[in-house]
Amino acid sequence: MIEFKNVSKKYKNGTHALENINLKVNDGEFVYIMGPTGSGKSTLIKLLDGEEVPTAGSVTVNGINVGRLRKSKVYLYRRKIGVVFQDYRLLPEKTVFENVAYALEVLDLPTDKIRKRTREVLKLVDLADKANVKPRELSGGQQQRVAIARAIAKRPTILIADEPTGNLDPSMTDEMITLLEKINTEEKTTLLVVTHNDVMVEYHPKRTIRIDSGHIVNDGSRTLSFYKQNLGEVKGEAKKQEPADAAALKQETEAQVPSAEEKQAQAALENAKHVKDDGAVKYDERPIKERHLSKEEAQDEMINEITMQLDAIKEISEGGRE
Ligand SMILES: Nc1ncnc2c1ncn2[C@@H]1O[C@H](COP(=O)(O)OP(=O)(O)O)[C@@H](O)[C@H]1O
Ligand SMILES: [Mg+2]
Repeated sequence: MIEFKNVSKKYKNGTHALENINLKVNDGEFVYIMGPTGSGKSTLIKLLDGEEVPTAGSVTVNGINVGRLRKSKVYLYRRKIGVVFQDYRLLPEKTVFENVAYALEVLDLPTDKIRKRTREVLKLVDLADKANVKPRELSGGQQQRVAIARAIAKRPTILIADEPTGNLDPSMTDEMITLLEKINTEEKTTLLVVTHNDVMVEYHPKRTIRIDSGHIVNDGSRTLSFYKQNLGEVKGEAKKQEPADAAALKQETEAQVPSAEEKQAQAALENAKHVKDDGAVKYDERPIKERHLSKEEAQDEMINEITMQLDAIKEISEGGRE
């Protein structure tokens, strides 16, 4: 499940790319994201794959608070997220097979598993017969399919495609969307598809989230009731999470931490000394207990770590992402 809660993103230059986004996407959904250029679509994707962190609010994916991932752990998280870029980003000197297999080699999988899975996804995208050619010998649509095969090889739970029909012949649109639908059903992958393509949305209607100037202006009619229902659920959950003795517990905790606000300000100052900035992301690599985190922040970070460790254990026990 993907959940954006009161998410805003303001870039360093002052641009408010997203403002107060609330959004829930359930496992297995297929969602279009539409909106004019500059409306915030790519920013939404970057918040999802951990390239950017929200200025306010939280982005949670399968229990992981993405904005609070430590930089050294982002790559682990990304194993679960496949992204198909508009410009494909294939390796020109490698064959189709090698391009796909490469995505699995970096996961340190045994060779036989890599070969098996590579053959499987190439078959899925209908390129089994092109395994040994170089990308330049392929049409645009075929190259796009290699990019898709590569993105899904690692069995991501979410596949994000940025303008998958942007560079395609209109006649290829239908084929592409049919393939994405197949991945959605056969691989049980959640699909987020950024598109300008009205034809696609018209002939393959799905939940459509429309963004304009950083705001969600519409969330597809088909699932509007579903969306409302989910909002209700969120409110219900919030209430449920407040057990009878929560107030007492809160008081007790606060009693141990006198002048909470002052302490928080002090902690922020202290933390700021350790924050590194690589130009794109601000991060702090110290272990959780060495940092001055609020209870909520520390909990989020610990949940992130535990969730990822559990994922790793699950993978090992399943014999390595078979
Ligand atoms: N790295 C960045 N630094 C500053 N502003 C940015 C950056 N990336 C995007 N923006 C701005 O944020 C807004 C949303 O951009 P973006 O998310 O790329 O929109 P879209 O993908 O819908 O075209 C635009 O005004 C864009 O200029
Ligand atoms: Mg964009």
